[in-house]
Amino acid sequence: MNVLVINGHPNLDKSFANAEIMKLLEQQTDWQIAHAVDFTGDIKTEQQRLLEAELVVVQFPLYWSTFPSVMKEWIDQVFTYGFAFGPDGSQLKGKKLLFSITAGATAESYSETGFNFMPLENYQRSFEHAFKAAEMDILDTIVTFEMNAIPEEGGDVEKTIALAHEHTQQVINAVKAHIG
Ligand SMILES: Cc1cc2nc3c(=O)[nH]c(=O)nc-3n(C[C@H](O)[C@H](O)[C@H](O)COP(=O)(O)O)c2cc1C
Repeated sequence: MNVLVINGHPNLDKSFANAEIMKLLEQQTDWQIAHAVDFTGDIKTEQQRLLEAELVVVQFPLYWSTFPSVMKEWIDQVFTYGFAFGPDGSQLKGKKLLFSITAGATAESYSETGFNFMPLENYQRSFEHAFKAAEMDILDTIVTFEMNAIPEEGGDVEKTIALAHEHTQQVINAVKAHIG
């Protein structure tokens, strides 16, 4: 199966959750991986990888309730007029997409009365924008909360790594359910 993972973490060397997820995906699948942070401006190659993929996994840690800036930069460059939107810009139309998201906060914090102000679904509408404009087929959004491994911030490395294993399995299962 031709699955392309877009990794939107800015620095896997300093990551626990996303580094573990990416490591497990590399060990357990033959999926292609594109690191947004390594994108050097070869737009055509990146667009070709998207076209060839049967399913795209967009992997990122929540930063201010959306994707990190490297992912935004990647989208800004790759989702061009005539490719992802505009006349003749429906080249990604119907392409299967799955969001795979790590969050440091609790699920409860994403409510009108919580410290993240509103449900994650509301923020989601915003970070889905480019993918919806490209008419991609958003199949699922897998989010794991409380993936904070930084002890000074009340985090727990062991718990985060365990959650990363569960999260990865969920992603692999979801992909298999959608493309067999
Ligand atoms: C700049 C920045 C902003 C963050 N904003 C949020 C946020 O809005 N909501 C949230 O749940 N976690 C937030 N976090 C926590 C990260 O989502 C969490 O640390 C990450 O998912 C863990 O992944 P990692 O170990 O791969 O870095 C933020 C972290 C950073 C560094």
